[in-house]
Amino acid sequence: MPAIEAIAQRHGIFILEDCAQSHGASLNGRQTGTWGSAAAFSFYPTKNLGALGDAGAVTTSNPALAEQIRLLRQYGWKTRYISQINGINTRMDPVQAAILRVFLQHLAESNQRRAAIADLYTQGLAGLPLRCPAVRPGAKHAYHQYTIRSASRDRIQAGLSALGIPSAILYPVPIHLQPAYKNAIRIGPGGLPETELAASEILSLPLYPQIPKQHVELVIQALRQLLG
Ligand SMILES: Cc1ncc(COP(=O)(O)O)c(C=O)c1O
Repeated sequence: MPAIEAIAQRHGIFILEDCAQSHGASLNGRQTGTWGSAAAFSFYPTKNLGALGDAGAVTTSNPALAEQIRLLRQYGWKTRYISQINGINTRMDPVQAAILRVFLQHLAESNQRRAAIADLYTQGLAGLPLRCPAVRPGAKHAYHQYTIRSASRDRIQAGLSALGIPSAILYPVPIHLQPAYKNAIRIGPGGLPETELAASEILSLPLYPQIPKQHVELVIQALRQLLG
């Protein structure tokens, strides 16, 4: 983020943070959601802070932007029934908001559990020919996913699946290759090789705060068998 901020400042670029997977994560003591000009959080049920249905929020410390986002959120209304701008309806359901207020109190604890599970994976997978997530000094990971990388990703996923172990590719097709956007984004010759390589190598292992330790051990054992 500091590097991205420096580039953005140099060129006057607006930074919108995608915090859909980073509730509670921080860098140098600064929480995600406070780095960019604005940030989008998802509270989809599977997220670290998840509602019981769809929900989300935008954070910003820019009052003019906050006002604009409030207008966009509800038909562009400043005064009821009068649309000042072309807004939409993205109000959060109050029932979801009430649920999120309660779940928010448990976020730190459930993130701690995620981090403990991640540590089990990192220790258990040490020495295998794959890359585990690395955490930079000063960073606190939210471990929404525990994503490994391997050139043999497809074989590993098939092997896990044969043992009844689910895994996920998040996400398989980079934005610049999505049918909807491939003509909308100008990319130089050679495409985005690092992005495309990552999309072909990533695999997210089972991780949720309540996952039993024995299940994590089974996944580790399976990977050691497949790659050992
Ligand atoms: C990285 C990332 N960004 C954005 C989203 C979109 O979230 P939502 O559909 O709740 O807006 C997701 C959801 O899975 C995500 O993982």
